[in-house]
Amino acid sequence: MMEQDIERILFTEAELKQRVTAMAAEINRDYAGKAPMLVSVLRGSFIFMADLIRGIALPCTVDFMSVSSYGKGTKSSGQVQITKDLSEDISGRDILVVEDILDSGNTLNYLLKILQARHPASIRLCALLDKPSRRVQPVSAEYTGFSIPDYFVVGYGLDYAEKYRNLPYIGVLKPSVYA
Ligand code: IMP
Ligand code: MG
Repeated sequence: MMEQDIERILFTEAELKQRVTAMAAEINRDYAGKAPMLVSVLRGSFIFMADLIRGIALPCTVDFMSVSSYGKGTKSSGQVQITKDLSEDISGRDILVVEDILDSGNTLNYLLKILQARHPASIRLCALLDKPSRRVQPVSAEYTGFSIPDYFVVGYGLDYAEKYRNLPYIGVLKPSVYA
């Protein structure tokens, strides 16, 4: 059972719902009169994105891209590759990049550079979780759900070796699982 691999629950379903709804309200306020394009970074952000967007009352659009930097470990390799690019042109658009977690910043540092080069009108970052103590690159998010210590967490879209994404809460993975 997946539950046996979880040391403790960090954020319950209800806590996630409440925080994500509040983030959507902030976005509604900041982007009033605009039609932002939400760019979900696959795969970890798909559940967050799905919940966030249902709180957004603006005429937004969505697109997806996929980058890889991890393999099966728990630490970023620093080597980032685009494995699936956006379908839409972002030039002149207000882009909101939606990520599951900001860790070393390697992935987003690289991604933001690539997107910036395509001349969007604006670009901001929305991350459900942030582990500021692990930052290697100077990346920060305009919208953050929760700041957390250096735990490896899973659930609500976040995985370890592609597992645990379907847990409805966010929990700390027992280190014995990946030791
Ligand atoms: P960064 O490049 O080190 O910032 O890594 C960002 C990516 O690493 C995230 O989008 C996640 O996919 C993954 N990641 C970082 N920390 C965790 C974690 O605690 N649990 C699951 N995935 C994580
Ligand atoms: Mg991710």
